Amino acid sequence: MTETVWWRGAVFYEIYLRSFADGNGDGVGDLVGARRRLPYLAQLGVDAVWLTPFYRSPMADGGYDVENHCDVDPVFGSLEDFDALLAEAHRLSIRVTVDIVPNHVSDQHRWFMTAVAAGPGSPERDRFIFRDDAGDGSPPNNWGSDFGGPAWTRLTRPDGQLEQWYLHLFGPEQPDLNWEHPDVRAEFEAILRFWLDRGVDGFRIDVAHGLVKAAGMPDNAVLPPTRSGTSYRPVGHQWDQPGVHSIYRDWRLLLDSYPGDRMAIGEAWVETHEALARYVRPDELHQAFNFHLLQAPWEAAALRGAIVDSLAAASAVGAAATWVLSNHDVVRHVTRYGGGTAGQRRARAAALLMLALPGAAYLYQGEELGLPEVDVPDEARRDPMLQRSSGAHRGRDGARVPLPWEARAPGLGFCPPEVAPWLPWPEDWHELAVDRQHGQTDSVLSLYAEALRHRRSQVRSQPQHVEWLDAPPEALLFRRGTMACGVNLGDAPLSAPAEGRLLVRSSPGPATVLERDAAAWWLVPAQA
Ligand code: NOJ
Repeated sequence: MTETVWWRGAVFYEIYLRSFADGNGDGVGDLVGARRRLPYLAQLGVDAVWLTPFYRSPMADGGYDVENHCDVDPVFGSLEDFDALLAEAHRLSIRVTVDIVPNHVSDQHRWFMTAVAAGPGSPERDRFIFRDDAGDGSPPNNWGSDFGGPAWTRLTRPDGQLEQWYLHLFGPEQPDLNWEHPDVRAEFEAILRFWLDRGVDGFRIDVAHGLVKAAGMPDNAVLPPTRSGTSYRPVGHQWDQPGVHSIYRDWRLLLDSYPGDRMAIGEAWVETHEALARYVRPDELHQAFNFHLLQAPWEAAALRGAIVDSLAAASAVGAAATWVLSNHDVVRHVTRYGGGTAGQRRARAAALLMLALPGAAYLYQGEELGLPEVDVPDEARRDPMLQRSSGAHRGRDGARVPLPWEARAPGLGFCPPEVAPWLPWPEDWHELAVDRQHGQTDSVLSLYAEALRHRRSQVRSQPQHVEWLDAPPEALLFRRGTMACGVNLGDAPLSAPAEGRLLVRSSPGPATVLERDAAAWWLVPAQA
């Protein structure tokens, strides 16, 4: 089977809006800035963009605390700016997907404000998860907030008296919605329609595995920490409950009622491949982020295992696999793979590995420049995680530093010279700038552009089946129809498949042998 609908084999590019391009000169990226830089993405060769939240928000969590889902925050522009971006993207044949945040709203959302004012026992409070104090002043259960500390905050009345607790799986400024409530379901269907009617091609569903909580909200067993430096593993009764799937069945019907192959991808951090596959059964979401490749260390067996199991789980439900190496929540993969020259080489090889696989690939802005994680000084950090975790987790700012566009411009082409970007650049950031890499045959940017070009013409139409070929134990070698991909993670040389004609290599070297930390694609004769 080859690819049919556009999203099955598409390359999506995550625009973390506040760090992409600043159009109005305030040091924060916005919709006007992003629109101006769309030709760059067209030239790079991506099929679609995913825009992180740009809705009205007090920005307690970079916009993932939404106050009004149907309006644009002035920091990011206006609805007209959004429409202009959408039109320009479509003119350039780039599809646009937007982030939907259904697990929680901002504590400044009209629903939460009225719920607080209406008091305990009121119908307004039923849209959230409020609980009385048991009498001992401890939270209703032992669930932890993802950003550190308890997942419950207790309200204080204006007269100073303590009253009910409310649940927030993230920051206290992000109260969780009660998805058992019909108003919540109706509201989000209206939100989806609002953006579908405006012409978006799809949605990225934030915390897709969190909307429904276990009945009775029992205590969790004592659990290992959910975060490590590189990844995130939510475990406990607040995640991945069976009831969540009926929501996505309803959304699928809604999306399918629109023309034009609209799609949705769920951000579902779940433990197993099988659990993830449940989100992409034929009547549920079109895709779910598969983070197993991202979580695998730079080791052949781990990468191969992640690929084999992901493909098996996706195909068992007839879904297309998805792949991701970085996003705005994790340490960038150049750094995860060791940083420095080794990290750069490995990241280049990993890009060829990911882009050779069947299914959709999600790039995170800046990976095409080889950006590493930045050691942002603590005083400049903005992510609430640093504070909430009492410093145990330094937060995600290191992956969110604004893009360097022009090496010689004082604002690096991201913002005007007279303003400071919302997060500071490291000293040497200009060396990685787009204009430095553009047209340089050995740059990461050129590698991505070349790989995406070949992917469109030679890779995407290949069979979805991955056939593994003999290779040294520390190497991966597979073919899909008439293309082959090899990645060498060890010291033994990896030879190209017989009669392989080189398409692209991750780093300079011979066409027929790969040394350590190099990857390549070859065209190979069809099998007899
Ligand atoms: C996942 C988003 O990617 C992350 O940035 C955010 O903090 C949480 N969801 C909460 O919305």
